[in-house]
Amino acid sequence: MRSPPASGTSGRARVPNIPSTTIGRHVATNGSGSSVLTVNGEQVTVTAAETTPLIYVLRNDLGLKGVRTGCVIGECGSCTVIADGHSLRSCQISLGDAAGMDLVTPEGLGTPDAPHPVQEAFLSEQAGQCGYCINGMIMAVAAAVDAGTIAGEEDARKALEELICRCGTHTRIVKAALRAAGVETEDAGAHGSVERLPGAEADAQAGLPEIVDRYPRMEQWLRLTQEGYVEVDSPKVELGQGISGALRQIAATQLGLPMDLVTLAPTTTGRSVDLGHTAGSNSVEHGGIPLAYAAVAFRRALLERGAALLDAPASQVELTAAGVVRPGTDAAVSLAQLATGEPLTGAITAADVPDWTAAGLGAPLPRADLVRKLTGAGVYLHDLELPGMLHARALLPPSYDAQVATEPDLQQIATAVGARRILRDGRIFLVVAEREDVAIRGVNRLRDAVRWSYDGPDEPVDVLSLLRTLDGDDHQTRLDDGIGEAFAAGRTHKATYSKPYEAHAPMSPSASIGMADGDRLRIWTHSQSPYPLRAELAVLFERDEDAVVVVHVEGPGAYGMNGADDAAALAALAAFAVPGEPVRFQHSMDDEFGWDPYGSAMVADLEASLDENGRIVGYRHRSWTDTHYARPDGNGDRLLVQWLGERGPGRPRFGGHEGGWRNTVPLYDVGARDIVTRHVRGPLRTGSLRSLGSYMHVFEIESFMDELAELAGQDPVAFRLAHLDDERGRHVLEVAAQTAGWEPHVGPSGRGQGVAFARYKDVKGYAAQVVDVRVDPESGTFTVTRVVVVCDAGTVINPDGLRNQLEGATIQSLSRCLGESLTVTTRGVKERNLSDYPLIGFSGIPRLEVVLVDRPGYPPLGTGESATPPLAAAVANAIDDALGVRLRNLPLTAASLERRLLELSEAEMARVRL
Ligand code: FES
Ligand code: FES
Repeated sequence: MRSPPASGTSGRARVPNIPSTTIGRHVATNGSGSSVLTVNGEQVTVTAAETTPLIYVLRNDLGLKGVRTGCVIGECGSCTVIADGHSLRSCQISLGDAAGMDLVTPEGLGTPDAPHPVQEAFLSEQAGQCGYCINGMIMAVAAAVDAGTIAGEEDARKALEELICRCGTHTRIVKAALRAAGVETEDAGAHGSVERLPGAEADAQAGLPEIVDRYPRMEQWLRLTQEGYVEVDSPKVELGQGISGALRQIAATQLGLPMDLVTLAPTTTGRSVDLGHTAGSNSVEHGGIPLAYAAVAFRRALLERGAALLDAPASQVELTAAGVVRPGTDAAVSLAQLATGEPLTGAITAADVPDWTAAGLGAPLPRADLVRKLTGAGVYLHDLELPGMLHARALLPPSYDAQVATEPDLQQIATAVGARRILRDGRIFLVVAEREDVAIRGVNRLRDAVRWSYDGPDEPVDVLSLLRTLDGDDHQTRLDDGIGEAFAAGRTHKATYSKPYEAHAPMSPSASIGMADGDRLRIWTHSQSPYPLRAELAVLFERDEDAVVVVHVEGPGAYGMNGADDAAALAALAAFAVPGEPVRFQHSMDDEFGWDPYGSAMVADLEASLDENGRIVGYRHRSWTDTHYARPDGNGDRLLVQWLGERGPGRPRFGGHEGGWRNTVPLYDVGARDIVTRHVRGPLRTGSLRSLGSYMHVFEIESFMDELAELAGQDPVAFRLAHLDDERGRHVLEVAAQTAGWEPHVGPSGRGQGVAFARYKDVKGYAAQVVDVRVDPESGTFTVTRVVVVCDAGTVINPDGLRNQLEGATIQSLSRCLGESLTVTTRGVKERNLSDYPLIGFSGIPRLEVVLVDRPGYPPLGTGESATPPLAAAVANAIDDALGVRLRNLPLTAASLERRLLELSEAEMARVRL
């Protein structure tokens, strides 16, 4: 480790674009509703009410979209600007109060072509997943660097502590802050390595993927533009997982062209292939693999056309960045020349087999999309500005059961606040205005004026007890012969585990833009489901599917189904009210939390039978869960507009069950199995949250494996290996144990190290994690200090992109398992904002070490969620190893440790090491 420089400014980058004086700026209102601001060194005049929050002035009046809109209550830091040399949340100051300050926005720091040194530091570290929070981080770091307050890692964490990153990019952000400050330390952030195993031959006999059968023509996947670029129609949408880069990398390597000659067009219904939802860690498998076949076919077509134009046999030409060339001669035809004439078309054949060992795969390419995201460009749906665009905001009921008791005079309120109009659809009120801040003001006025009635009092709900009592559908995943005998003969052990309801808690409330033109509707959305959303909207608004076009534009990370689809339907509702004019709708954070399709609470009872050799011979599993699937599917009954509007009185329809029993079958040989999941309809609207039911099922299975190992008198790693035949699974476990310095032990060792393993969905990437915890013996509180993550995802497309995903999934999972939980009452949830919901901060981030097991030639496996499920069990196992206290209910907090200590039996107390 290199020593950080002594405090002071030695070795630190300056922040040259921040004005250092206050001369020449200024002025407040001039009496005519105009204010003069100094922004990025220039004076600008703004016509708006003095009370308008600065964030709306910067974003909407001045078009400075690098100031991201987030919580808008001062909690997240996305909107941070530098004011008089200090970082300032622009949602927390009015236009009038800002008029005397020198303001710098991300656009004032640098540009995509000429990034500021702090922006460069973030780009060098690839510090971003969805990237939505990063401009705020950059501004806070720039101010701290300029003030000379970052001399080491603790300083960097302190400068960032009050900012939120929901994707879990914390380690890279800290590294970037240190790099920007000129502080070099190997301890900051994540570390990683790649273990490259022998490659596998491409299998030409394997046949075409099923998705290629559905979209068998190359022109359905890619095309040559007149400018000489190969344009891929994105089959999956970018969620911050870096799929846009991976798709370009896959296409480029199979075409044999440099990546900068391959571009990606956004997923648009009617033009892109319809691969349903971007979810379930399927993007590379379902989108990338078929694209690779299409790219091989396209390369063949390019060579054939080039050979014809060069009048040469196809076997004597090559495809290069210069086009199709004839080696050894000057003969060449450029890609732009190849694009003249008829578009290249043709079938993808079984001979168009991708080469998964091609040069360029496995290369750590920087994400091109981060350049604009991290240098202030308006790249998100929230930033999209269409000519003449109006703004809409909603007043929704304060709870599921609230009914409108008294409706005020809507026209009067619209006139009073200067809104274009206010419309009511059932329990939805929509304010449409020319200015966003006016729409918000209208909603605030409405909130004061509308009176609601409720079905009953607001009372707490004991969720875990309730779930067991509800009627539901049982799904028997396994019932093996011999289950009765297995339990009759062996020594049995039982345990019950649980998880709470959790929120998606995105960095910004969901948004969408709608535009209606007669019967036709165009929607811009950050939904993960462009085609299913189109089908849903068509039914909901009684239009032909062909009359609805859905265009994907990136948004802040969603981590499942959040409010994006609801926002699209609300934008459509607003758009039909003002035909011919584009309307941007955005949820409030209160509604994003209050109407979220939450991750379901779950309970599970596990029971196992051990034989005299300590081998598991029988396994019973009973679990209770609400649905993990509520995405739009074309029935018109999944979204808020249907639920709360006039179109239907019902809650969104109960979704499918697969997510509830996902990963319930252990990968281990556990003898005879009896596994049942009951799907119930709980008190809250639920849907998909990252890794769905796997998060809970891996927590319970991997915690239980540790409990059984101790009963069997075996080391937790050895016990797992003794029950695991899958070679790839064994390998990641062994590498994780070795990397973490695992010391075999039976029962609590006092060291505070825990292990867990899973193969996500039983078919995706393998991941093993080893966690170290440190316990404060005085308070009983614990801190996760280190996490080793080992992942086998088959062929690694982009190691740094994969590592970034694994880091994010690990930190986000840590946030969930250490604190995230919703308080349920008869009226919904208590937590209605980021300030109510305990997301992990920079002080709680452990050292991360990521090892990738690269298997060139093996099909790439989805890994967006692989590192999410094992983490909670690894933490619980580490706590047990440290303290001798088994925590079985998520989240794992100091309070839950205290509760657990009070309920321990005498025998359990004998293990406690406090
Ligand atoms: S702190 Fe201003 S948007 Fe969150
Ligand atoms: S990268 Fe921080 S919220 Fe997505």
